[in-house]
Amino acid sequence: MVKSIGPKKIRTAVFISGTGSNLKNLIKFSLKKKSPIEIILIISNNPKAKGLEYSKIYKIKKKIYNYNKKKISETKTLKDLKSNDINLICLAGFMKILSKDFINNFKGKILNIHPSLLPKYKGLNTHDRAIHNKEKYSGCTVHLVNSKLDSGKIILQKKVKLSKKETVSSLQKKILKHEHILYPKAISKLFANP
Ligand code: GAR
Repeated sequence: MVKSIGPKKIRTAVFISGTGSNLKNLIKFSLKKKSPIEIILIISNNPKAKGLEYSKIYKIKKKIYNYNKKKISETKTLKDLKSNDINLICLAGFMKILSKDFINNFKGKILNIHPSLLPKYKGLNTHDRAIHNKEKYSGCTVHLVNSKLDSGKIILQKKVKLSKKETVSSLQKKILKHEHILYPKAISKLFANP
């Protein structure tokens, strides 16, 4: 009997700056048979990013560029993405803003996870601001990236209730757990075969 070869997975690059818990989670997801993505490349602006250890553990190529020199770094990154046939970028705690030019090169093919219920609390210090404003709820959002910060089309959101004693660190942990469910769910929603 001829074994049927499943549909090809989407060649994906994940961009990180720090801990990389979303990266780890996406790698685990990508290894599932049903996952529409495979992770080919990890890009980081931070040579000390803890998440880079997953490159070693899971044997995934990594590239580190100094994004303070944005133009040069973006050009090098684009070269890597092209030479590795990358078709999807997942930003996962990548704390640099990509240029319009870069985004146009991957129009509709860049996803981001953001720790708030967008359009509320774009940018940094989301948890701090939500607590300070005595919000009852915050959460996380997976969205497409366009040239305006945290403003692209929303794919999925998860609402999370704040407790009375919520701190930045407790809220961050609480929301992160939901991020790990939401990101794979959003990718499946966009790309899974029927
Ligand atoms: C996550 O909470 C992610 O939503 C946030 O950084 C954290 C990274 O954690 N991203 C942003 O704030 C983007 N503006 P991780 O490194 O453990 O995945």
